Amino acid sequence: MTAPRCTLVPTHERPDLDEQVETLFSEHWPEFIFHDLGVKPYRERRAEYFADLDFWGLDADGRLVGGCYGVPIRWDGTVEDLPGGYTDALRRSVEEHEAGIAPDTLVVMGAMVRTDEQGRGWAGDLLLGLRAKAVACGLEKVIAPVRPTLKSRYPLTPIEVFAAWTRDDGALLDPWLRTHARLGATVLAPAPRSQTMTGTVAEWEAWTGLALPASGEYVIPDGLALLHVDRGADRGVYHDPNVWMRHL
Ligand SMILES: CC(C)(COP(=O)(O)OP(=O)(O)OC[C@H]1O[C@@H](n2cnc3c(N)ncnc32)[C@H](O)[C@@H]1OP(=O)(O)O)[C@@H](O)C(=O)NCCC(=O)NCCS
Repeated sequence: MTAPRCTLVPTHERPDLDEQVETLFSEHWPEFIFHDLGVKPYRERRAEYFADLDFWGLDADGRLVGGCYGVPIRWDGTVEDLPGGYTDALRRSVEEHEAGIAPDTLVVMGAMVRTDEQGRGWAGDLLLGLRAKAVACGLEKVIAPVRPTLKSRYPLTPIEVFAAWTRDDGALLDPWLRTHARLGATVLAPAPRSQTMTGTVAEWEAWTGLALPASGEYVIPDGLALLHVDRGADRGVYHDPNVWMRHL
């Protein structure tokens, strides 16, 4: 395994970098990602309780190349005891922390690489760095609800089918799943409802840039699955699917 080329620093130690973030990373996420109602009640407490698991990645010259963060939970190592996905891991980490339950597992919640540095292997460095931080904190297990970036091209395909697709060389088809796998992570289970976004029809039209004139299912830009629209109830529901992988 090659030594990481980037250094992780807790984001709270470098507030001066916050300004760069919007220009370097802002285009990464579709708007609907920010409308998971299950995240809101826990977001601020997550940032407060687990600030030391929230990092910027800097290159050898101290330049910002990416970011990553995780949350700690107690997990017994079985598929049955996995959180339902991203949002459930967030909830569980905060509630367990407040209940005084000692964690033993890091859940990698996200990683991003600045747009002009993608495809150069920084993501692997970030994950290795985060793994090392977990071990240093006494978290012996490391898991991740991985959001497969290529899945948006296959929104009709069930996540459990997509997660198993491989290339001719045997490597996983999805580049982000593959990056995790290259670091030794294995697929544990699909998380078909890792996040749930709910909104009115007008909100979904604004978030997706699409007219949604009838009830039914829609392929939406950057959606990994279909949007379900019920015009009678004035409601659209989307479940973002992820894949649970285990690093350590
Ligand atoms: C996903 C992400 C973190 C990968 O970072 P990265 O440093 O570019 O990753 P790597 O350089 O290690 O590349 C990983 C693989 O993805 C491929 N890849 C990288 N950027 C790509 C892009 N824009 N489009 C398609 N494939 C890409 C690489 O070719 C590589 O595949 P390989 O196995 O054939 O070598 C980065 O693209 C990103 O920040 N995306 C937006 C945020 C996001 O989706 N995060 C993941 C969910 S939390």
